[in-house]
Amino acid sequence: MNLILLGAPGAGKGTQATKIADRYGLVHISTGDIFRANIKAGTEIGLLAKSYTDKGELVPDEVTCAIVRDRLTWEDCKKGYLLDGFPRNLFQAEELDKFAHIDGVVNINIDHALLMDRLCGRRVCRECGESYHVSTLGGKTTCARCGGELYQRKDDNPETVGARLAVYNEQTAPLIDYYTRKGIILNFTGSEAPAEALFEEVKAVLDKLA
Ligand code: AP5
Ligand code: MG
Repeated sequence: MNLILLGAPGAGKGTQATKIADRYGLVHISTGDIFRANIKAGTEIGLLAKSYTDKGELVPDEVTCAIVRDRLTWEDCKKGYLLDGFPRNLFQAEELDKFAHIDGVVNINIDHALLMDRLCGRRVCRECGESYHVSTLGGKTTCARCGGELYQRKDDNPETVGARLAVYNEQTAPLIDYYTRKGIILNFTGSEAPAEALFEEVKAVLDKLA
């Protein structure tokens, strides 16, 4: 089963991705994580990506599409994969159609008023990538799952979050129609309910697709 996770920044794509990938044995491919790993390692792609991610803008399509196209040729993708954060505009979606077959698009709709607080309060584990919110950490600075150090993403500040939301509205939201027309969209509503509650709904639908 090959899936796409669609949703605004902070909708909970990464949070649901870990759970979905675990349950269905899928490879979790997050273009955001790939760029952050490259930035940390100081690669040429990382240097280029940093100039865009710091501003909340999209990294150029040629670079992003080439990375995903290559990643999907790896042996592990044969068991199925979950694309988190790709595609992010119509060009990327049309390119993806040329080299992949997608079975379903998990779209998380969410009231954008919730997102600024979620993102500015997010802390992420450096080791396993698990996300937390400061309000639930009680001052803890390590990951409950693996003990790794928690950090705040550089793009999780009010100014950059505002830019990321604008990019989502202009470029990514039209993909909901694109995949609705293809008949493969699976719509969910994110809310203040715990991530586990949303996952129960996602699971009920994906169990029938798997
Ligand atoms: P990326 O890393 O993909 O960031 P994003 O889309 O902005 O999404 P986030 O990771 O911020 O949010 P999320 O939906 O994963 O939410 P999460 O689960 O963490 O991309 C970063 C940058 O890379 C882009 O801006 C761009 O520059 C570049 N890039 C990436 N892909 C690209 C592409 N295809 N083309 C070009 N450029 C690209 O949850 C958020 C918070 O909410 C967490 O604190 C979490 O604990 C909490 N939370 C989650 N669910 C719930 C819940 N149900 N209730 C309460 N809190 C919850
Ligand atoms: Mg994410």
